[in-house]
Amino acid sequence: MTHPPTPATDPDSPRAGDPGPSVANLDTIVSLSKRRGFIFPSSEIYGGINAVWDYGPLGVELKNNVKRAWWRSMVQTRDEIVGLDAGILMAPQVWVASGHVGSFSDPLVECQTDHRRFRLDELPGTEDLTQTDLQDPDVVKRLGLVCPVDGGPLSAPRRFNLMFKTYMGPVEEDAALVYLRPETAQGIYVNFRNVRESSRKRIPFGIAQVGKAFRNEISPGNFVFRMREFEQMEMQYFVRPDTASQYFDEWLPRRRQWYVDYGVTSERLRLREHAPDELAHYAKKAVDVEYRFPFGWKELEGVHNRGDWDLGNHAKASGENLEYFDPVTEERYIPWVVETSAGADRAAFTFLIDAYREEEVRGETRVSLALHPDLAPYKVAVLPLLKKRPEIVELCQRIKDDLRRDVMAVYDDTASIGKLYRRQDEIGTPYCVTVDVDTLEDQAVTVRDRDTMEQVRVHVDQVRTFVLDLLARNRV
Ligand code: GAP
Repeated sequence: MTHPPTPATDPDSPRAGDPGPSVANLDTIVSLSKRRGFIFPSSEIYGGINAVWDYGPLGVELKNNVKRAWWRSMVQTRDEIVGLDAGILMAPQVWVASGHVGSFSDPLVECQTDHRRFRLDELPGTEDLTQTDLQDPDVVKRLGLVCPVDGGPLSAPRRFNLMFKTYMGPVEEDAALVYLRPETAQGIYVNFRNVRESSRKRIPFGIAQVGKAFRNEISPGNFVFRMREFEQMEMQYFVRPDTASQYFDEWLPRRRQWYVDYGVTSERLRLREHAPDELAHYAKKAVDVEYRFPFGWKELEGVHNRGDWDLGNHAKASGENLEYFDPVTEERYIPWVVETSAGADRAAFTFLIDAYREEEVRGETRVSLALHPDLAPYKVAVLPLLKKRPEIVELCQRIKDDLRRDVMAVYDDTASIGKLYRRQDEIGTPYCVTVDVDTLEDQAVTVRDRDTMEQVRVHVDQVRTFVLDLLARNRV
C-alpha cells in the first residue's frame, strides 16, 4: 500500500509526526524483489543461509547505480577527496589497535531451555533501556526478562564479538588468525600516509572507499536491512583537530540531502544523535541519518567524529609516524577524522522501498517504482506494438542497440503492449519507446514517461538524443 507522506513541522526532530512508511508490509518488497530479479535469498536451493542475500539481474544494476551515485558525489565531483580499494583481509593487529577485538561486541543472552540466542537490546521489554542498563550484568533478573519464544529463563548477558574469523595460509593455528573486516574504514587509516604522499593532498582532505564488510550479527533480519555480509560506502575526512565539529556540521546535512536528491521522501528521513553511553568505542560524537522503514525509524547512515582515535592508535601500535605536517603553519599533529558511513545495501533497499507506488488505473492496480533515473536498472525499454511485423522488430532492435552504447536499454516483445508497460513500470524503467505501424509511415516513435504516463511522438532519427537528453537533464 502506498501512503502519501504527512508533512512534519521539523522533519529532523524525533518528535515530529510519523509520516508512515511508503510500504505498509515489507513482504510486498521482498516478493517484488524475488519475482522481478532484484534480490534472492542466498544458496536458496540448499534452504538458504541466514542473513546473506544475492542480487539478481536488476538488483545488481540498482546497487551498482547506488554505488556509482555515491562515488560521483563523494569522489568524482570533489577536488579534495580521493578513492581507495583496500583488502578485506588485513593484518590482525589492525583490529587490536582499532579497538574492534576488545570492544566490537553486542550483548548476548541465551535461553536456558532451548538454547536460542538473542541480542539483549532486541528482546521485548528492553526498548527504553540505556546502554548503561544493557551493560548491567543483573539486567535480566532485574527486569524479569524471559525467552520470547518459549518463556524459558535467560542467561546473564555476555559480550559477543561480531567479527568473523578465518585462517590465512595452510595451518589453522592462532598465529594464522585473520578477521574479515567489519568496516571498510580501517583500510583507509592504514593507507593514510600512502594516499596523502602519493596524491599530495593537504588537510582537509578525504579518502573514500566502497566494499564488503562482514559482521556475525546476533539477530540479523528485516530482509537486507541487517545482513552478515554487506557493502559499505565510507569516507574518512582528515581535518585539523579544532575544525572537526565544523566539518561534522557540514557533512551531516550534505549526507542527508544526498538521499533526497536521489528521490527519498524528505519527511521519511530524520537525524538522531547518539546518547553519550550509546557511542561506539571510537566515536566522540555520532548522528544517524534515519529512515522510516516499514519496521520503524532505523539507521540508514552514520556520521561520526572519530577524533584521533584510529590514526593515534595505529601510530602507537605500529610505531609509525602518522602525523601530518602543515607546511603553512608549520604545525605537526595527528589529524582528526569526520567519517560518513553508509551501507550500499541499506541505501539500495531504502531507494527501492521509498520508490514503491500502487495506484488504481482504469480499475486495475498499477505498481510502479518511481526510482530516480540515475538509479533505475534500465533507463529505457524499446517495445514493438506488433511483434509479427519484422520491420517493426528490426527497427526496435536498431533503436535499442543505438541507445545501449550509452545506457542500459532493453527490448521486450513477450506480451501485449499494456503488459509490457506494466512490467517496465514495476521495475522502475523511466522511459519506454514504442514502435508501431504508423512509425513505418511517419518515421516517428512514441516515448512514454513512467511517472506521468504521458506520451510524445519523436522522429526515429532523434529518439536517441531525445532520451539521452531527458536522462541528462535529470542527472543529480
Ligand atoms: N565505520 C563506521 C561504521 O561501520 P556503523 O554504524 O557500524 O559504522 C555504518 O555502520 C553503516 O553500515 C550503517 O549505517 C549501515 O548502513 C551499514 N551497516 C552496518 N551494519 C550492517 C549490516 N549488518 N547489514 C547491512 N548494513 C549494515
